[in-house]
Amino acid sequence: MLFVPRDFVLSLAILVVLLSTPCSSSYEKTEERIKSAVFLSPKFELRPGSVINKFYDDIDFPKGHVAIKSFDAEVVDEAGNSIPLHETYLHHWVVGRYHQSNHATHTENDSHKMLQKAYPGLVRNSGICQGNILPQYFGLGSETRGTPTDIPDPFGMEMGNPTEIPEGFEEKWLFNIHAIDTRGVEDKLGCTECKCELYNVTVDEYGRPLMSDYKGGLSCCYDNTQCKLKEGFKGPKRSLYLKYKIKWVDWDEFIVPLKTYIIDVTDSLKLSDDSKGMNSDHDCKIEYQVESCSTDHEEGNGCVHVKRTSLPLQTGGYVIYAVAHQHSGGVGSTLYGQDGRVICSSVPSYGHGNEAGNEAGYIVGMSTCYPKPGSVKIIDGEILTHESNYNNTKEHTGVMGLFYLLVAEQLPYQHFRHSTRSSFFMDINNIW
Ligand SMILES: *[C@@H]1O[C@H](CO)[C@@H](O)[C@H](O)[C@H]1NC(C)=O
Ligand SMILES: *[C@@H]1O[C@H](CO)[C@@H](O)[C@H](O)[C@H]1NC(C)=O
Ligand SMILES: *[C@@H]1O[C@H](CO)[C@@H](O)[C@H](O)[C@H]1NC(C)=O
Repeated sequence: MLFVPRDFVLSLAILVVLLSTPCSSSYEKTEERIKSAVFLSPKFELRPGSVINKFYDDIDFPKGHVAIKSFDAEVVDEAGNSIPLHETYLHHWVVGRYHQSNHATHTENDSHKMLQKAYPGLVRNSGICQGNILPQYFGLGSETRGTPTDIPDPFGMEMGNPTEIPEGFEEKWLFNIHAIDTRGVEDKLGCTECKCELYNVTVDEYGRPLMSDYKGGLSCCYDNTQCKLKEGFKGPKRSLYLKYKIKWVDWDEFIVPLKTYIIDVTDSLKLSDDSKGMNSDHDCKIEYQVESCSTDHEEGNGCVHVKRTSLPLQTGGYVIYAVAHQHSGGVGSTLYGQDGRVICSSVPSYGHGNEAGNEAGYIVGMSTCYPKPGSVKIIDGEILTHESNYNNTKEHTGVMGLFYLLVAEQLPYQHFRHSTRSSFFMDINNIW
C-alpha cells in the first residue's frame, strides 16, 4: 500500500467507473465542453468630454441552464479597435439579472438606475448591500482588460435554472455602462473622478441640489453631462460598444454552484426602528471621498488613506475567487477574517504606456485570489473586515472600494455526495 500512489488508485477507480457507466460524458474535462461567445452591447455615442450612463435591457447572454465560467469586457469602436482609457474612460460596466413576464410590454421606462434604485424583477446577487444596491453578478471598471475572471473547475455561476424562474417569466440580463470621453478635456483625472466643478453641475440627475461639501462622484457625472474641455478643442463624435466575451458550460450536476457577494467598504450596519422592533440594515454608499493628506489630520500614515468596515457574512463557505475594485489612486484592498487571517489581498496594477490595456496612470488590472478550494473557509456569521487603501498625496473624489467574493457552500466531494448519480464517489472514498 505504501508504494501505491494515492492518485494512481484514484485514477484507476475513476477509470473503472468511466468504463462501466452509461453517463461517461459527465466526466469529460470541463475545458472540452466550454462554449464561448463574443457579443457587442448596443451602440453608444460619445463626444469629447461627454458622459454616458446607460441601461440596456435584454442583452445577449447564453441561453438555457448554464454555468458561467468567465465574463470579460472592453470598449471598442465600430472597426473593433480597442479604445484606450485616456480617450474613453470606462467608469464601470455591470451586469444584472432580472425576470421578465412573458406578457410584459417592453418600454423604455424599464431602464432604471440599477446601481441606485429599484429595478422590477431584478434578481440580485447574494448580498450584502441593502435593497437593490450593487446587485450585479459581473462588472468591473478601467481594470477590466487586465483582470482575470475565470472560474476554476468544477465551479461555475449557475444561471437560467428553470426551477428558479417563476412560471410565465423569462430570465434576462441587463447592462449598466458608464463611460466618460476624456479626449481634449482640461483635466483627465478630474473628469474620471467626476469632480463637480469640471462638470459645472449644481444639481444631481433628478434635479436635487448637491450638498455643499459634495466635491465629486456619480452625482456629478451622470448621463449626458459634459466635462470641461480645453479652450477651443474640437473632436468628432464617435460610436462605441462594450465588447464582451462569455465562457460557459451547459449545466450538469457535477458543477458546484458559487454564490456572488459584493462587500462595499462604505457599508455600515445601520440600526433602524420599525413596527417589528430594531433592525440592522446595510448602508452601502457605493463611493466615497479621500481627503488629501495635507488636510487629513490623521498623522503618520505616510499619505495612505485607510477605510475599513467590518460586517458579518450570514452564510459562509469556501472562497473560490475574490477580487477588489478600486479607482485611480488605489493601492490595494484586503479582506480579513474575524481572526485576522487574510482572505484575499487584491492590488491594482497601473499602466505605463499609451496603448489600450497599458494606459499610464490608470488602473489596468487588479490582482485576483484563487485559493486552493477548501483552504479558505468563511464560517456562517463570521465578521469580515474589508480595508481599502488609497494614496492620498492628492485628494480623490468618487472612489470605490468593493470586494467581489465567489463562495462555494460545499466542496466538490460534499456536493457530489449529495447529488443523485454520484454514489461512485463514495465508493472511491471507501478505498481509503
Ligand atoms: C414612461 O415615462 C414617461 C416619463 O416618465 C411617461 O410620460 C410615459 O407615460 C411612460 N410610458 C409608459 C409606457 O409607462
Ligand atoms: C455652467 O452652468 C451655468 C448654468 O447652469 C451656465 O450659465 C454656464 O454657461 C455654464 N458654464 C459653462 C462653462 O458651461
Ligand atoms: C503616492 O503618490 C505619489 C505621487 O502622486 C508618490 O510619490 C508616492 O510614492 C505614492 N505613495 C504610495 C504609497 O504609493
